[in-house]
Amino acid sequence: MSELIAERHSWRSYRREPLDQGTRGLLRAAISHLEQPPFQTRMRFSLIDADKSEAGRIKGTYGVISGAGSFLVGAVEPGDMMFEDFGYAFEELILFATSLGLGTCWIGGTFSRSLFGEKMGLRPGEIIPAVTPVGYRAHRRSLVDSLFFLSAGSRNRRPWNELFFDNDFSTPLTQKRSGEYATTLEMVRLAPSAVNKQPWRIVRKDGRFHFFICRTLGYRSLFSAVDLQRIDLGIAMFHFHICARESGLEGSWEIVDPGITSVLPPSTGYCASWIPHP
Ligand SMILES: Cc1cc2nc3c(=O)[nH]c(=O)nc-3n(C[C@H](O)[C@H](O)[C@H](O)COP(=O)(O)O)c2cc1C
Repeated sequence: MSELIAERHSWRSYRREPLDQGTRGLLRAAISHLEQPPFQTRMRFSLIDADKSEAGRIKGTYGVISGAGSFLVGAVEPGDMMFEDFGYAFEELILFATSLGLGTCWIGGTFSRSLFGEKMGLRPGEIIPAVTPVGYRAHRRSLVDSLFFLSAGSRNRRPWNELFFDNDFSTPLTQKRSGEYATTLEMVRLAPSAVNKQPWRIVRKDGRFHFFICRTLGYRSLFSAVDLQRIDLGIAMFHFHICARESGLEGSWEIVDPGITSVLPPSTGYCASWIPHP
């Protein structure tokens, strides 16, 4: 998983070549074997094909996808933790596609929710928070893709001292002091996030890891019904859980009182906690 996480980057230019049957079968099998997300939100996923006449309807808001004919699409039912759960499950699927050597790109901005809704047979109450093209990467990024890759600072991530803390928000958690969790936290740091804002913050306290969301002001209103930054949190939670497990560290997700008495940084709120198994 750590290798896949380090290898994955958004890819927006694809070869106009349909996915072969074997690959389709593997993606469908992965969909049916996805882990249950931490807060049991009901959701379903599909592999969907779009033909050329629909290409104009599938462009993302700020990235332009070219050449992709297939998409992974997910629909969730409403619930308190629907966006975190969606991010968690969809990232598992994205990393599985990465393991097959396929390109992907989270698209949560304005894409045609109506087109994907029609193709998925969206049921009353369900929403589609995000989609990803899935396909064979073009040999090189298109100009738009390259520009986007550079302008979103795709390879840049915030340093540890802005993301991870010990006991409360006043003491950064260093790689050295994080001990056996160093790789796990590094894999959270490498996670993708909408507009690369990296809104996740983690405080370790008494062996528990409390996840907070540090919101980008004015951002939520751009995408009204879907809270992309809570999806980002779900992605980070998946990276944490799966990489901790890979290091032999088991735990589960709960919503608890993190017991942090000092004042939280501005625009920051509690989300969920990873509690290690005894
Ligand atoms: C929830 C979410 C929504 C995103 N929406 C879009 C989008 O609408 N269009 C796009 O081009 N990229 C989108 N991205 C991709 C991010 O810009 C990208 O993950 C980030 O810049 C980090 O780059 P990387 O994925 O190459 O590591 C989204 C990512 C996430 C996690």
